[in-house]
Amino acid sequence: MSFGDILDTRDPATVANPYEIYRELRSHRDLVWSDRLGLWLAPTHETANATLRNKHLGRIYKPQEPLTQWEIFNWLHSDSILDSEPPKHTRLRSLVQKAFTPGRISALEPNIIEICEQLLAGAASKIKSEGKFDVLADFAEPLPVLVIADLLGVPRSKADDLRRWSQDIVKMYEYGRTQAQELSAQKSAAEFSAYISQLAAQRKIEPKPDLITALVEVEEQGEKLNEHELIAMCVLLLNAGHEASVNGFGNGMVAMFRHPLQLDLMKKNPRKHAKTALEEMMRFDSPLHMFERTATSQTVIGNTTVEVGQKVVSMLGSANRDENAFVDADNFDITRESNPHIAFGAGIHFCIGAPLARLEMQNSLAMLFEEFPNLQLVGEPVQRPTFVLRGWESISATN
Ligand code: HEM
Repeated sequence: MSFGDILDTRDPATVANPYEIYRELRSHRDLVWSDRLGLWLAPTHETANATLRNKHLGRIYKPQEPLTQWEIFNWLHSDSILDSEPPKHTRLRSLVQKAFTPGRISALEPNIIEICEQLLAGAASKIKSEGKFDVLADFAEPLPVLVIADLLGVPRSKADDLRRWSQDIVKMYEYGRTQAQELSAQKSAAEFSAYISQLAAQRKIEPKPDLITALVEVEEQGEKLNEHELIAMCVLLLNAGHEASVNGFGNGMVAMFRHPLQLDLMKKNPRKHAKTALEEMMRFDSPLHMFERTATSQTVIGNTTVEVGQKVVSMLGSANRDENAFVDADNFDITRESNPHIAFGAGIHFCIGAPLARLEMQNSLAMLFEEFPNLQLVGEPVQRPTFVLRGWESISATN
């Protein structure tokens, strides 16, 4: 039994509210060992940040067994930017970075606005016919999927499949998953990669001004990107490009509804507050709570020596509530000016999509409150039972 065992990621009460336990874990101001998970926890802002930036701690993908069944799932991960290390990571990241320049991202703003307008019109007619709409299913979920689909060049009509494939795959990132979830993850990984492979083949014959075509052209030039890496890149962008965005928006909206003074402030002047509000939404109830690293050589984090092969978990959700890093850390304040949260990570894997996620949230938040100035909850939101990817299943609201 170790001190870190006070964190039980399968305990429903902890999933509902992990913040009391996080506070206890932070009281040591150092890494904390968990027998339960067999790894070090890095719960403070300083140790979580240092874990992500430490060059001796890598993201080495460990294949699932048996290999045949997991083959596609395995290469989708081992060949992805997120699970690779330099020099492969540097090569993959520089290829995709071009799609995320400030110019390319701001060029997507009209798409974001158009998609928001359509979704809000749909939500308004649902309120008319049913008296309510779902902030997630009718607004926050489709938006980032449609935007990332536009960026890559995947038809918008494919959005439902993308969402399903992605949700099945990300269940694998939780601790203690079921066999049924593993089977769905394998099936969806196969369908998703087959679809992207077929789309890439089409683009070779008929190029278009989209990211898939740009990646296909790099692949055809030879050495820089192989076919598995190309598919893994598109799948990761589609997954990473919306899972965290949906949960970040939903978590932030629930926090907003639970803090009536902040909700009023937002309603009075959505445009003015959208920028700082979105950062506070990301900090206060972050969508991604844990990222693992493995020591490739002995290293020190805080006052703790981490041995080769040991794992350290950067606890983003806890770091973002650290009383040593934020004034009134447990206070939800949409006007917070200094907000050095690490919800988008840190170091070489820092979220490539952060500027896009911010642009989406800033517009969608302002537009949601402009469309529905009396926005309010209907009943209680339903929480997801997942720990690593923290989010809500549904948030019913009306105007
Ligand atoms: C609220 C929204 C988002 C949050 C909170 C978020 C968070 C993160 C975090 C914490 C990481 C680092 C993971 C690690 O260190 O192991 C990451 C990486 C990444 N994110 Fe995001 N993300 C968001 C949206 C997006 C979007 C919209 C895209 C793409 C369109 C995206 C693409 C990526 C990619 C490709 C990586 C891997 C980067 C690398 O390994 O070098 N993310 N994200």
